[in-house]
Amino acid sequence: MDRLLLIDDETDVQYSFRRIFDSREIELTTASSGEEGLKVLARVRPDLVIMDVRMGGMNGLETLRRIRQSDAKLPVIMMTAYGTTQTAIEAMKLGAYDYLLKPFDVPKLKQLVAGALKAARDMKQVVSYQPLLESEDYALGIVGRSEPMQSVFKLIGQLAASDATALITGESGTGKELVARAIYHHSRRSGQPFLAINCAAIPENLLESELFGHEKGAFTGATAQRIGKFEQCDQGTIFLDEIGDMSLATQTKILRVLQSGTFERVGGNQPLKVDVRVIAATNKPLEQAVTTKQFREDLFYRLNVVRIQIPPLRDRREDIRLLVNYFLKKFAEGGNQPPKSISPEVVTALEQYRWPGNVRELENVIQRAIVVAKGDAILLSDLPSEILSCDPATEASQAPGAKAAAVAGSPETGTDLAAVARTLFRWAREEGKLKVIPAVERQLIIEALAETKGNQVQAAKLLGITRATLRKRVEKFKIRQELSIK
Ligand SMILES: Nc1ncnc2c1ncn2[C@@H]1O[C@H](COP(=O)(O)OP(=O)(O)OP(=O)(O)O)[C@@H](O)[C@H]1O
Ligand SMILES: [Mg+2]
Repeated sequence: MDRLLLIDDETDVQYSFRRIFDSREIELTTASSGEEGLKVLARVRPDLVIMDVRMGGMNGLETLRRIRQSDAKLPVIMMTAYGTTQTAIEAMKLGAYDYLLKPFDVPKLKQLVAGALKAARDMKQVVSYQPLLESEDYALGIVGRSEPMQSVFKLIGQLAASDATALITGESGTGKELVARAIYHHSRRSGQPFLAINCAAIPENLLESELFGHEKGAFTGATAQRIGKFEQCDQGTIFLDEIGDMSLATQTKILRVLQSGTFERVGGNQPLKVDVRVIAATNKPLEQAVTTKQFREDLFYRLNVVRIQIPPLRDRREDIRLLVNYFLKKFAEGGNQPPKSISPEVVTALEQYRWPGNVRELENVIQRAIVVAKGDAILLSDLPSEILSCDPATEASQAPGAKAAAVAGSPETGTDLAAVARTLFRWAREEGKLKVIPAVERQLIIEALAETKGNQVQAAKLLGITRATLRKRVEKFKIRQELSIK
């Protein structure tokens, strides 16, 4: 029988837990405060603790810290009604097993509890991490409540607690630098320097000397010795942005620093030693660069030990509303004005747009809207035209190049056919079909052949193509085989 301890000051939550969990397999004990929880814990010796973050008296994070000190292997799941980055990161950093957002859904909760109890059994011999520093109250402003962002927060917390190299990937404007800074701020190196270098912005021949320094006379123009970023940043953290743009020669040097902590200045022959944590980011597919030999495979694997993939904004539309509120507040504080309000149709329009420039583009749109809005509310007319002219249905389907189909006022929009096309589109996307037109074409041909009982002449006529074309398609899409299987 597994022992579960719930620490939460809300009687409603205690009640629902009793209903969900009190069973023959699980023995549930409850406590209404952190202080009480610690006492009960010593007596009951639970296999798993589930605890609220916000409680009167000792809060959840502090209680978690104490629990970790007395029993580092006991899994603790934190619950919070506030999906703030801060709590998520802190909780994971303190070694929480996981955390849950309230209100929680019961199947998910059960699944999580089952997983944690299994981990508890498996984990008996694993040594756990002890935080080295007291947490600091940084307002890092990473907003997001969506599932993929919650995973990002968890990884930030875990990375902050370690010294591992990290690779952050994601489209432009998704927040890669923000995440890198968050890892740094929460890490034990936060008292030491953080240097960001944009590898794409520095000419290739200068990057090496920028990173590693050079000796006097190393090359034309090297009139004095120069100390590079790695040397300046000893004990600190270096953020190598756009690492996909780095030359192979520089990659080799980076690999060496990562492996042995040593390097030489350009033109120098004395090996220097540093202790620097590297966080890298790129918006390029590095795997591809590895296959085309533009990126060293060994360096890729070295960097890819922990990967944070930040999803594009269009894949987490539920965060848009939160981000809008956050930016409204942020810019209002900058201007010492109360935040502008925003009409619901504006929010809807923002939620439907594709956001090719991701969060950065959204931030710019809000900043601009605040400036152009006349009254104290932001209206549709304050948004740029590309957001207004987007067709919600095609936008929501997230199709690349969807804009072309969204020409306002064209006869195709608003008809039944448009609705069918929309459905088809979504189907193809959800099925993971990369080539929508061939996928749909194939299905239409199957329909026509079924309708004409396999008569190609008639089917071609119905489809409006020649018989020769139909035959080619049938072959290309391997339709006959499928029909005969049926
Ligand atoms: N989740 C978020 N919450 C709040 N602000 C965000 C978030 N993500 C990104 N931003 C803001 O969007 C802007 C772009 O973020 P950042 O510079 O980190 O993106 P990036 O991925 O490094 O982009 P690029 O690839 O173009 O360098 C910044 O102003 C950042 O503060
Ligand atoms: Mg960046």
